[in-house]
Amino acid sequence: MKGRLKIWPRTLVVQLIAVTAAAVVISNFAVAWWFEIGSERQRETALNERVLDRGAAVAATLSAIPPSSRGAVMRAMNSPHLWQFTELRPGEGVTRPMSEEGARLAQRLTASLPPKARVGQVTVLLHEQLRDIPTHLLPAHNDDNDEAMRLVIPLDAKNSISMVFLRSKPSWPVEIIAAAAMAILVASAGAALMARRVVRPLYDLTTAASVVARGGTAPHVAEIGPDDVRNAAIAFNQMTEKVARTMESQRHLLSAVGHDLRTPITAMRINLEFVEEEELREGLQQNLDELQALTEQVLAAARGASGESKRSVDLSALVESICADLDDLGEPVTYQNHAPAPVSCRPNEIRRAVRNLVENAVAYGNKADVQIANNSDGYDIVVEDEGPGIPEDERIRVFEPFVRLESSRNAATGGTGLGLTLAKAIAEGHGGAIVLENRRQGGLRARMHLPRMAAKA
Ligand SMILES: Nc1ncnc2c1ncn2[C@@H]1O[C@H](COP(=O)(O)OP(=O)(O)OP(=O)(O)O)[C@@H](O)[C@H]1O
Ligand SMILES: [Mg+2]
Repeated sequence: MKGRLKIWPRTLVVQLIAVTAAAVVISNFAVAWWFEIGSERQRETALNERVLDRGAAVAATLSAIPPSSRGAVMRAMNSPHLWQFTELRPGEGVTRPMSEEGARLAQRLTASLPPKARVGQVTVLLHEQLRDIPTHLLPAHNDDNDEAMRLVIPLDAKNSISMVFLRSKPSWPVEIIAAAAMAILVASAGAALMARRVVRPLYDLTTAASVVARGGTAPHVAEIGPDDVRNAAIAFNQMTEKVARTMESQRHLLSAVGHDLRTPITAMRINLEFVEEEELREGLQQNLDELQALTEQVLAAARGASGESKRSVDLSALVESICADLDDLGEPVTYQNHAPAPVSCRPNEIRRAVRNLVENAVAYGNKADVQIANNSDGYDIVVEDEGPGIPEDERIRVFEPFVRLESSRNAATGGTGLGLTLAKAIAEGHGGAIVLENRRQGGLRARMHLPRMAAKA
């Protein structure tokens, strides 16, 4: 797809993991955020109340005792790690404006003071930087803090006290981050497992389908995975079984026809002896020979294999001799020499299959150029010609028995349409395949693949 994000992974497994991990991260942080905000607000409200109560209580007490005793009382009230009360010198009060919340709390504090002590403006500063507060007003131990809440409460017309309360630093919600990381891990593993469950059978299905597309016999696909994928595998297996059954009945039909033809042919041969007119007898004899050859071909195609056993042969020499035989007969066949190519095969079958391909090239493509190409697990016998080639939509069909294309339905090339059927059966019987393709410069290229160590049987 054009304009598609390049970094977006294309395999289902990675996509699933990415989407799941992203969803987990977003939802975790959303929840953590709401949770943190909520609990932080609660914590702060409770803390503010506490500080306010303490401030009010101390201010009420101080305003009720003689000024000379105030210092001692305040010292007794101090907590060196948490808060400090200090009597402010005149003019040492805060002039900074309060926040809205601060003003509201200041009002509450004022209201909670005894009427006698409500002598002036109370100041509440909620979040003050420690460096903005004069050192002598700070509690002694303030190293771990960077924020404080500050109250200034007038005691009488001249004097006011300062209360500085240390706030602890807001810490990272470590537990939440750890929980999120764990959730990501678990969810990703789950997604990977799920994706594998889907992808494995899909992969098998793809492989099996491409085997069929190349004209091979489809392997049974394991019917596993989630229902949707499993149903696809079941449908695929049903389809390939049906195709296999159809092919099998086709072979049966061929075999039955072949066998049934043998008897009348033999009978006709016997009766032929009684035909006295020589010319007629010879004509009939020739027709019968053709009929017999056709019958044998039908039977061979039906059998697929000849019952011949495997031997180790040099494919190069074998193919060369086929080409040489045809060349001797005056056919336009060339063979490009190749180093010895040892394979284990049924040589007569291979001879027959290759001969079919070469004869086709000569019959429909004017000439046959034959060569052997090395392949990762064996050899390709490549037969090229200069004819019209075969249209792509016919390339599977020509392997079916008796199929001949319109262009070849003439007497000059009069074949039976069994050559490719037979060649394909032979190649597959050796664990190989035949692939047809049109050459760019015109003509057909038939490629018969043979594994070095052909499958047993
Ligand atoms: N090299 C080729 N170029 C063009 N068409 C081809 C070629 N090879 C085969 N064909 C087409 O495929 C059809 C099937 O080929 P196949 O060899 O199975 O049968 P056939 O040659 O007609 O008969 P026979 O049984 O005698 O081989 C041919 O009739 C022809 O139309
Ligand atoms: Mg042929």
